[in-house]
Amino acid sequence: MNYDIQNDIAKILLSEDEIETIVKRISAEIDAHYRERDSRLLLLGILKGSVVFMGDLMKHITVPVEIDFMKVSSYGAGTVSTGSINIMLDLYRKDFANTDILIIEDIIDSGRTLSYLVEYLRLKGAKSVRTCTLLDKPSRREVDFEADIVGAIIPNEFVVGYGLDYDEKYRALPFVGVLKPHVYSGEA
Ligand code: IMP
Ligand code: MG
Repeated sequence: MNYDIQNDIAKILLSEDEIETIVKRISAEIDAHYRERDSRLLLLGILKGSVVFMGDLMKHITVPVEIDFMKVSSYGAGTVSTGSINIMLDLYRKDFANTDILIIEDIIDSGRTLSYLVEYLRLKGAKSVRTCTLLDKPSRREVDFEADIVGAIIPNEFVVGYGLDYDEKYRALPFVGVLKPHVYSGEA
């Protein structure tokens, strides 16, 4: 189905340049934190929203990294969280005990996805589990959770682009924009 970017985006929240600045700042933080370790650093992207952010991040990080992905679902097709987490694609690894995991997420909303995953990966025996999110909506928290690395704190608005979708659309936009409410309320 077709959609009209000009008509569907109310405003740009993070421009391409602003995102680039964030990516460089975060990759420098990751370099500093994981320097001089014997363990392996795994960037664990949460599909699908994190792929653009993770792709940009890994190009800037200079310490050796491995990548992998998990897919979890906490959302249906709309904008309201269901509150339960399903693992659709799990992480299989032989050497959890020698792996520092940095979860890469697009956005934290209720906090349920990441608080669940951090616990899940710790129980698997990972050497360390930390979290990095491009966006954070702290006003929407339903569980007590803070990411270790946050790109930008944003207000309670539904955003798309740079990997984030509404109903699988808008992921390829190079910026993060606020979706006009008419798009998800079904009005013209
Ligand atoms: P949480 O478990 O409620 O923190 O859910 C986080 C997930 O909800 C993210 O990975 C996104 O897939 C989705 N999500 C939350 N807010 C937005 C938004 O504004 N735009 C697009 N997806 C969102
Ligand atoms: Mg997501």
